Amino acid sequence: MFLFTISTRLLNQGFLFYHKRLLLKYLLATVAIFSISGISLYFFVIRSLNQQLNQELLTLVEAATPSLSMVKSEGKQGLEREISWVKLFSDQHHGLEWYDDQGKLLAREGHDFIQSPIFNNIQALKSTKKTSVFHRQGKIQTATIAVYSHNPREDKLLLEGYIRASQSTQEIEVVFTQLRLGLQLGGATAIVLVSFSSIYLATETLKPLKKGIQRLRRIMTNVSHQVRTPLTRISLATEMLLNQTSKNQVSQARKLNIINTATEQIRHLVEEVSFLIRIDTTPNLGKVRFNDVSLMAILQSLSEQFTPIARAKGVNLQTQLSKDIIIKGYQDELNRLLTNLLENAIKYTDAPGSVFLSIEQSQKKIIVTIRDTGIGIPSDHLPLIFQDFWRSEAVKVKYPEGLGLGLTIAEAIIQQHQGKITVISEVGVGSCFQVHFPKGKL
Ligand SMILES: Nc1ncnc2c1ncn2[C@@H]1O[C@H](COP(=O)(O)OP(=O)(O)OP(=O)(O)O)[C@@H](O)[C@H]1O
Ligand SMILES: [Mg+2]
Repeated sequence: MFLFTISTRLLNQGFLFYHKRLLLKYLLATVAIFSISGISLYFFVIRSLNQQLNQELLTLVEAATPSLSMVKSEGKQGLEREISWVKLFSDQHHGLEWYDDQGKLLAREGHDFIQSPIFNNIQALKSTKKTSVFHRQGKIQTATIAVYSHNPREDKLLLEGYIRASQSTQEIEVVFTQLRLGLQLGGATAIVLVSFSSIYLATETLKPLKKGIQRLRRIMTNVSHQVRTPLTRISLATEMLLNQTSKNQVSQARKLNIINTATEQIRHLVEEVSFLIRIDTTPNLGKVRFNDVSLMAILQSLSEQFTPIARAKGVNLQTQLSKDIIIKGYQDELNRLLTNLLENAIKYTDAPGSVFLSIEQSQKKIIVTIRDTGIGIPSDHLPLIFQDFWRSEAVKVKYPEGLGLGLTIAEAIIQQHQGKITVISEVGVGSCFQVHFPKGKL
């Protein structure tokens, strides 16, 4: 019951962790979407307002075209006779300048003229070969056109001069400032609103999941607990019967041995599956809960534990361990991970063979290598070996014992420690499993 309470608390903490992570991701995605949309909208509005301003200036300057010949012949008085531009012209906002074909100023009306000489615009007209050019200087936007008259005798266009219209951009800049402010305020409000709905959505999304996982864990904890007791009783009873069986009752003894082995297998299966469920449903709470673990101590104890087992089957276990390496992690789980790999190396190596256990560290990572001269793994099986309950058909025949969970568990543990396992193998030559622990994260 006590254990169950602890595991439920851990599960709740875990969910809180996932909840926070999900929320953070929702928020980041929302901020990214709003920022991109806001910036795009801002630039779209800037572009269309600028285009609108240019269009207005162009219309004004084109309306003033017929007045150029009047100005050329009569000076500024000519402007009073040719007034088609006046209804588009605002004395407060616009400036209009008439130039001859040499770029000499003939007349000007209104204000907001730019300092830049007309020659720059003439140059731009010539180089772009367009009939109109736009130019901005400071807070003033201009449109300049070249005015031509048609000479019917020579059927040629004759350059009459240039007209330049200008207008202050202050008004549209006020719009830009307001737009920026509106987008910032609107964006911030939207982000706050979306944050609240994210909290609600994340909670709602995780609710059934949390309930399901809690139930699964509860069932598994109970099943493994309930199964363990009768299994232990069967084991004990068969042990007792075995001890009492006299030598001539060989066949009975064999049957009892079968019961004993089968019981052990069921107990092992229940333990492995409940471990997998526990590790899969307990999130990695990171450094906070990790302890200092001596990798060297684990490897040394494994070497001592497995040397007699390896020797018994004609396999030479060689260990190469240098100085102690301390990492952050869960001692029992790291022990389990390395045990599973070493067990495999010894199990799948026939006599005479060797298994090498070594550890090395570089600046970025620590690598534990478990290499064997065993049966090897066909390359098309390599992507499958970490799947739960997977065992190759050939292996099932030659080594019938095994659940196909050892590597699944190893992988789950290394992922919890933010590392990885790599394998290289060749059939008939051997396999090399490497466990990588990233140094920075541990
Ligand atoms: N060192 C190795 N050499 C050759 N084959 C291997 C080695 N390690 C793993 N394998 C292959 O990968 C499969 C999966 O290994 P895994 O440890 O997950 O399961 P298992 O050893 O079959 O059973 P158990 O659950 O008891 O560990 C093995 O059945 C075997 O085919
Ligand atoms: Mg195994």
